[in-house]
Amino acid sequence: MKEILIGSIDQFTAFPVEVELDRDLYFLMQVDDDQYTLYSSVCPHGGYTVDLIDGELECPLHGWTFEVHTGRCHNVPSARLASYNVILRDNQLFAQMA
Ligand code: FES
Repeated sequence: MKEILIGSIDQFTAFPVEVELDRDLYFLMQVDDDQYTLYSSVCPHGGYTVDLIDGELECPLHGWTFEVHTGRCHNVPSARLASYNVILRDNQLFAQMA
């Protein structure tokens, strides 16, 4: 399991928010008070990059949209964005990448 520092919790004031890790784009989401999750920006349909627009996750290629709290696709419910656990330790957020 590879752990990657996302950043200090204090730097994030609104969710979902775009974060870049190892040159890849992800979306950080707050699930509960001290619970966070990270979503891949790779669209499960055709691999295009999902955008965060006005708090909504949408793929511009064919218009699929994704539920921000689960990553589930609205258009095809069996599809979802890949997600990763996030842990909060010493005020820092770390992504647990497979
Ligand atoms: S590649 Fe994302 S909706 Fe088709």
